[in-house]
Amino acid sequence: MELYLDSANLEEIRHVASLGIISGVTTNPSLLAKEDPKVDVRKRILEIHQLVGGHLSVEVISLDADGMLREADEILTWFPEATIKIPMIPEGLKAVAKLADQDVETNVTLIFSATQALAANNAGATYVSVFVGRLDDIGYDGMEVIRDVRDIWDTQGLSSLILAASIRHPMHILESAKAGADIATCPYKPLLQSLQHPLTDKGVAAFVADHKKMQDEIAKLKASTN
Ligand code: E4P
Repeated sequence: MELYLDSANLEEIRHVASLGIISGVTTNPSLLAKEDPKVDVRKRILEIHQLVGGHLSVEVISLDADGMLREADEILTWFPEATIKIPMIPEGLKAVAKLADQDVETNVTLIFSATQALAANNAGATYVSVFVGRLDDIGYDGMEVIRDVRDIWDTQGLSSLILAASIRHPMHILESAKAGADIATCPYKPLLQSLQHPLTDKGVAAFVADHKKMQDEIAKLKASTN
């Protein structure tokens, strides 16, 4: 399962990109506004693209297909490999179908059920983003939708990539991988948490301490023979 960073924060993106663990970044209007409500979106998106270079989802904000297509055209002038992120509404599906005809990659966002994912796949979506955390937030089992989508995809041989989004904690990353998601897009904190284990830290500290003990013994031996 590939990992993307779900962020518009340049420091976070720079740090995680330097670890070599992500192959893309997803953004949305809320993530951009959180960084700076006055942010120059084009400039920020190009900065992110420079830092990561792989997948980059950029979301449209129009609610009608023509407006979405106009926005997609504009985004593609910024960089032609952009993935256009489109909400799971009927007008969005119309725009996805048009973009698929032009071989433009799309990421259908705000998917909360397997039937929505199926429709997005049939419209020609490259990625279907299932929002696991927001379903958990309202008392549903978000991961169940990923499992259903994986089952349907395997039974029917469907092709959109399954993207687990709205990740809240490291268990969501683990469960997404077990459920067969192709990608999980993770905020900075849970992604960094997923790299940590207290026994790793304890083990590193012990290796460093034992190495120092050895160096100290060697230094003592040298001093006594001089
Ligand atoms: C990613 O593509 C989504 O926009 C994002 O994961 C939403 O996450 P949230 O539910 O934490 O806002």
